[in-house]
Amino acid sequence: MASSSPASPASLLDLAPVVPVVVLQDVSDAVPLARALVAGGLAAIEVTLRTPVALDAIQAITEEVPDAVVGAGTVITPEQVHDSVAAGARFLVSPGWTDVLLEAMRGSGVPFLPGVSTASEVVALLERGVREMKFFPAEAAGGTAYLKSLSGPLPQARFCPTGGIGAGNAPEYLSLPNVGCVGGTWMLPADAVASRDWGRVESLAREASRLGRLRPQV
Ligand code: 3PG
Repeated sequence: MASSSPASPASLLDLAPVVPVVVLQDVSDAVPLARALVAGGLAAIEVTLRTPVALDAIQAITEEVPDAVVGAGTVITPEQVHDSVAAGARFLVSPGWTDVLLEAMRGSGVPFLPGVSTASEVVALLERGVREMKFFPAEAAGGTAYLKSLSGPLPQARFCPTGGIGAGNAPEYLSLPNVGCVGGTWMLPADAVASRDWGRVESLAREASRLGRLRPQV
C-alpha cells in the first residue's frame, strides 16, 4: 500500500490495490483476522456493518492492530456514518448512495466511496463533485466490459469494483485505467474463518496482495 494513512495518498482508491471485505459474526475474531490480513500484505480492511458486532470489531482492530487501516463498509445511514467514525473507521464504503447519505459522508472528515452500478448514477455523483466510487455489484452489473464502456464517456470517474471478484478475475479489473483497487471476500473463505484458520487467511491474503503488485502501471 502507498501509505499507512488514507489521508496521505491522492485518493482512497490508491490506498491499497486489494481491499478485503470482512463480515464478522464474532468480535473475538476481529483482531486475529486483521493481523492475518496485515501479515499477508493487505493492510486496508473494510469491515461491513452487516452484523451486530461490526462496530466493536472496528474499534478492536483500531486499538490493537495499528498497522491496519480499517474502514466501515455497507454504510447506508447517516447514523452509521457517525457511529463508524466514532468507532475508529478511517474510510467509509457504501453499496449505493442518496443525497442524505452523501452529505453525512462528506461531513464525516474521512474519505468515502459511494456505490454505483449505472452510468446515470456515475453522472449524478460527478455532478456532485464525487469522482471516486465503488462499483457494485461488479460482476452482476456488467463486470470489466461495463467499466471499460464507462471509461470512454466518463474518464474522470474512478472505481473500486466489488462483488463477485476473486483471484481469477481481479487482475483484469486491476488492469483497467479507471480501476484504482478491487474489493472482495475471496481471501476470507467462510470455512477458514469458522475454523479460525488464520494461517490460511494469511496465505490467501499474501496471494491476493501479489495480484495487486503485479498490476500494470497505467
Ligand atoms: C460486498 O460488499 O459484499 C462485497 O462486494 C464482497 O462481495 P464478494 O463476496 O462477492 O467478494
